[in-house]
Amino acid sequence: MTDRQVPAQPKTGDTIGLSRRSLLRAGLLTGGAAASAGLVSSTALAGDPLITEVQDWNRYLGDSVQAAPYGKPSEFEAHVVRRDVEWLTASPESSVNFTPLHELDGIITPNGLCFERHHGGVAQINPAEHRLMVNGLVDKQLVFTMEDLKRFPRENRVYFLECAANSGMEWRGAQLNGCQYTHGMIHCVVYTGVPLKYLLKEAGVKTSGKWLLAEGADAAAMTRSIPMEKALDDCLVAFKMNGEALRPEQGYPVRLVVPGWEGNMWVKWLRRLEVGDQPWEQREETSKYTDLLANGKARRFTWVMDVKSVITSPSPQAPIPHGKGPLVISGVAWSGGGTIKRVDVSIDGGRNWTTARIDGPSLSKAMHRFYLDIDWDGSPLLLQSRAMDEHGFVQPTKNELRLARGDNSIYHNNGIQTWHVKADGTVENVEVA
Ligand code: MTE
Ligand code: CO
Repeated sequence: MTDRQVPAQPKTGDTIGLSRRSLLRAGLLTGGAAASAGLVSSTALAGDPLITEVQDWNRYLGDSVQAAPYGKPSEFEAHVVRRDVEWLTASPESSVNFTPLHELDGIITPNGLCFERHHGGVAQINPAEHRLMVNGLVDKQLVFTMEDLKRFPRENRVYFLECAANSGMEWRGAQLNGCQYTHGMIHCVVYTGVPLKYLLKEAGVKTSGKWLLAEGADAAAMTRSIPMEKALDDCLVAFKMNGEALRPEQGYPVRLVVPGWEGNMWVKWLRRLEVGDQPWEQREETSKYTDLLANGKARRFTWVMDVKSVITSPSPQAPIPHGKGPLVISGVAWSGGGTIKRVDVSIDGGRNWTTARIDGPSLSKAMHRFYLDIDWDGSPLLLQSRAMDEHGFVQPTKNELRLARGDNSIYHNNGIQTWHVKADGTVENVEVA
């Protein structure tokens, strides 16, 4: 097991001052292309046997086309997996694992790497035996089979799903050493599904119908109230992710997609939609997924996931392997309010900011990929990223967040993350005071 595979241990919150003059010595490259001599590997010049000798893979036949009817990653990528933090939850069925953000690029999460959060284990459902009921304040109560659902017009949309508890362990200080653990309760895939409004229209929502209860078919029977306005806006009843059937972990055969809103509402293994005239005040919207403020009052119905970003590389699980010279700083940004308009990166703990380059599709309520290409002089860095969305909302510092919400919160931490890059290229989770 290499360093990069060691599960994170709890760590007391380091706090680093801003007085490191050395940080300012690390220069920024303004252009994208890094044409420094530092990019050329010197082993090639010294008669590298990997070049001068014919290798086995260049000499012998490889596997036949049917060796892997369902393909999987190279054996050299075996370390790129979802990981959990053992001490975090009491049982592995009501638990969570984390997306390995530090190993990914672009904006799409591969299906096998999407973090999982379930409260009663993974339901294994034969789609032929699955039913979706619509009842309550409707003209016609309906029950759909999966085949019925596939006869409605469908749409393809790319959305992130972030658990409201993502970064929750970081609320009071730096805790887990890696963006997989601090920010990995998020994934972003392309969903194929039927707009929820088509199903509700088929049933005929009565004028008194202002709320929708979504219920799962798993052992936890996850249930959440959703305002009718959102249900009729952009929600999907989805059966495909990244082109193939949903994975059982993600709600096979069908899940609710609630774009931009907290992951808990995206009910998996969706079995029932009830129309009502008020919220149901379920456990997950009263004792859970509410934010207890300093004055003892709790914020509730905090559905939208606020603008947020994190640098995925370098980061504690993705140290700099190459010493000084050209360095690609990369990360992801997202907002439940729409698209990301700008991401700024600081290498000196938030004193100075440089606007990063957003590359790839910029889609509403989807992940965005950003890069900043610098010429690293080998001195320590305090790396931060700060996202701004299309409405002008800016990601706050953790101190700003705590000033507004106090210290009791777990959910909805969208504060700026700091990574301390050391001269040897190793990286640690810290907080800038
Ligand atoms: N739906 C059901 N039926 N049961 C669950 O336990 N967990 C919720 C939500 N939907 C849950 C559920 C939570 S808290 C989150 S964050 C998302 O599913 C996680 O979705 P994922 O497992 O696809 O990442
Ligand atoms: Co969640």
